[in-house]
Amino acid sequence: MTIAISISSTIGGSGKTTVAYMFAQLLSTNYKVLALDLCGQCNFTEVLLHDNIVNETFCDAFETGDVISHITPITKNLHVLPGNTWVNGIPTNLYIQGFKTTQIVVVLRDLLNRAKNDYDFVVVDCPSICADELFNVSLSISDFAIMTYSPNKLQLIKSWLNKIKYIQDEFNPELRVGGILRTRFNKNEDSHKYYNQEVCQLYPDYCWNSVFPNSPLFANIDSHFTQKSQVVTAFKPVLDEMILQLLKTRNGIGSW
Ligand SMILES: Nc1ncnc2c1ncn2[C@@H]1O[C@H](COP(=O)(O)OP(=O)(O)O)[C@@H](O)[C@H]1O
Ligand SMILES: [Mg+2]
Repeated sequence: MTIAISISSTIGGSGKTTVAYMFAQLLSTNYKVLALDLCGQCNFTEVLLHDNIVNETFCDAFETGDVISHITPITKNLHVLPGNTWVNGIPTNLYIQGFKTTQIVVVLRDLLNRAKNDYDFVVVDCPSICADELFNVSLSISDFAIMTYSPNKLQLIKSWLNKIKYIQDEFNPELRVGGILRTRFNKNEDSHKYYNQEVCQLYPDYCWNSVFPNSPLFANIDSHFTQKSQVVTAFKPVLDEMILQLLKTRNGIGSW
């Protein structure tokens, strides 16, 4: 059975791609993983494939209606459906063809769901919330939605939870809130201390215990970095907690 995990946020630069990359790399040591890049910035593709030229992307999958043959293997266990900057034009293309907003999400959801079967995990790097349709598609194909929350307005968490509810009602009843991962927090910065306290108080059930700290270890991460045991060790509490939250959610123990 495949488990699709999406990393999304209503905050830009909150470490979505970095976290998605770490999950994809580390899960692939034991499981078969598909990395899905649905963000027009395509940083997930860049970091996974380095400078290799990308020939096959989500755009090709969309044009041909065949997603599986456009997946690129990186290692035996880690494969990617790459993105490129044209990904943002896919919803526009469907609008021009006469599709309505909700139909666009359904068409793309059904296309991407066809890619999932051969994998234990699918890790989705979601676009910014500004790319509304693709954001909705990302969550519509996910079982477990993680929000990366870097120090910012707390209202942004409420917007994210509202989005989850909308997706559950409209497109994907299987979607579960996987929780809020605090990202890019510094221990010594006063504003970070404030937001940390507030988010834990307001969302005690959703906040993970582990924090993804702001650290030079995780800046400009690439595959050479994940091979550094320091990086893997520093990320391990987050990976362990992700598995724990996943088990809780699936067994119905958690409060969401
Ligand atoms: N924990 C971290 N510590 C330090 N730098 C980080 C961390 N996480 C991400 N970064 C850096 O911050 C920038 C934004 O991160 P990224 O993962 O691309 O965020 P997003 O995908 O949410 O836009 C990148 O330059 C990345 O290298
Ligand atoms: Mg990103």
